[in-house]
Amino acid sequence: MEHVLTIEDVRNTISNWKKEGYSIGYVPTMGFLHDGHASLIDQARKNNDKVIVSIFVNPIQFGENEDLSTYPRDINNDKKLCESHGVDLIFTPSSEEMYQDKKAFVDIIDLSNTLCGLRRPIHFKGVCTVVAKFFNIIQPTNAYFGKKDAQQLAIIRKMVFDLNFPVNIIGVPIVREHDGLAKSSRNTYLSSDERKAATILYKSIQKGKSSIEPGCSADSIINTMTEIIQSEPLAKIDYISVVDANTMQPVQKVISPVLVAMAVYIGTTRLIDNFSYDPN
Ligand code: PAF
Repeated sequence: MEHVLTIEDVRNTISNWKKEGYSIGYVPTMGFLHDGHASLIDQARKNNDKVIVSIFVNPIQFGENEDLSTYPRDINNDKKLCESHGVDLIFTPSSEEMYQDKKAFVDIIDLSNTLCGLRRPIHFKGVCTVVAKFFNIIQPTNAYFGKKDAQQLAIIRKMVFDLNFPVNIIGVPIVREHDGLAKSSRNTYLSSDERKAATILYKSIQKGKSSIEPGCSADSIINTMTEIIQSEPLAKIDYISVVDANTMQPVQKVISPVLVAMAVYIGTTRLIDNFSYDPN
C-alpha cells in the first residue's frame, strides 16, 4: 500500500493509473477508521481496479465550539485497517496542503439548512468544499459514503448533479454494533454508562420503523420516537424529523420517500441515526 501526503504525489500515482485505464474507487474519511469505514472500503474494493482512501480531519467543517481539537486520531491503526482491506493508496494531506487559501467554497443551498445544518450552520459548506477539492484532485470513478450521514449523502449527490462532477456516488448501509448503536468515531467519547444509554437511539429507530405506514402523519412517528428517547435520562433530543428523501425538507405526511433522521445528545456527545422509508 502506498502512502502519500501531497497533492502532487497523489496526482502522479492517479495519472499512472488513468494511463492504464484503471477504474478508481474513492473513500473519503476523517480517520479513526472502524467497521463502518471498512464496509465502504470493501464495497470500493469489489467494484474498482484501484482503491484510494483519504484521511483528513477537515477543519472547515467544524464549528467554533465543536470537537476539532479533540477529534480522535490513530493513523497507525488506520493504516493497518486500510492495508488489511486491500487499499492501494492512502492520502493524508496536512491542512496547509489542502488550504493554502480559504476563498473558494462550495455551498449547496436549501438541503444544508435543515436537520444537522440547523445546528451546524457551516458544516455542510465545509464538507462540500473539501469533497469537491478531493474529487478534483483524485478524479475517482466511484466515491463511497455511509448512509449514517444521510443528509451529507443527499447533499453530495446534489453537488455532483448540479456541478456536473464526473463521479458516481454510492451510498453504503449503516454498520451497527451488536446492540444496534451505529458505528461512529465519536462513540469513543462515551463513558460506559453513556455507551449503554446510547442504545436508545436504535430502539427509537426500530420503533419508528415498525410504526411508519403509507399516509401516516410525520408527527405521529416523531412523537412515538420521542417517547422512547425521553425514557432514557442521559439522552437529550436535538431533533427528530421526517423529511423528503431528496430535498431534506420536512413533510407533514408520508406519501413519498422520506428520511426519518435524529440527532440526540448522550451526555455531551451528539449522535445521529436514521432510516429511510418508501411508502410506494
Ligand atoms: O463523513 C466524513 O467523514 C466527512 O464529512 C468527509 C466526507 C470525509 C468530509 O470531510
